[in-house]
Amino acid sequence: MRTLILSIFAVSLSATAVTAADDPVAARKLLMQSAAAAAGVSGGMMKGDIDYNPAIAKSAIATLNAVSHTYGDFFPEGTSEGDTTASPKIWEDAAGWQAALEKFQGDTSAAAEASGKDGPADLAAFQQAIGPVLGNCKSCHENFRVQKN
Ligand code: HEC
Repeated sequence: MRTLILSIFAVSLSATAVTAADDPVAARKLLMQSAAAAAGVSGGMMKGDIDYNPAIAKSAIATLNAVSHTYGDFFPEGTSEGDTTASPKIWEDAAGWQAALEKFQGDTSAAAEASGKDGPADLAAFQQAIGPVLGNCKSCHENFRVQKN
């Protein structure tokens, strides 16, 4: 059974790797969609629509931490065209893009650290940890994303 589970993992991981290499645009959109889902759950708890739960809070932070540390791998040259809202500035201002990624990574790492083993103890602690992370969404999109109609 254990071998079976392990081999299923291996298959799904290699399937992901193939997709990511073949289609970095699709891969980076999937990462942003999981970021959006994590941000959505976080917002729901902060607004009180969802009861605060430290395990869910921890999982949202962990998702954003993973996204921030992998996201930059899916922007090879020549992928600013087509079905993407990535701005050409990502390649024109590579240093600025790198700085935005690093800020996102720094903020998610700090939140992961603050969330500890069992997740932030209460809503106030969660808000304090995730607030700076969520600020990255808007600032990066303003600088490095274009709206296409
Ligand atoms: C470092 C820059 C950066 C940060 C930080 C960032 N994004 Fe994005 N995001 C982008 C770029 C670039 C795109 C366009 C990707 C594409 O279309 O190829 C994007 C696209 C998206 C999309 C559209 C995905 C799709 O399917 O087309 C969503 C949703 C999104 N981001 C949500 C978020 C949320 C929520 C956060 C904060 C938790 C966030 N982003 C943080 C750069 C960033």
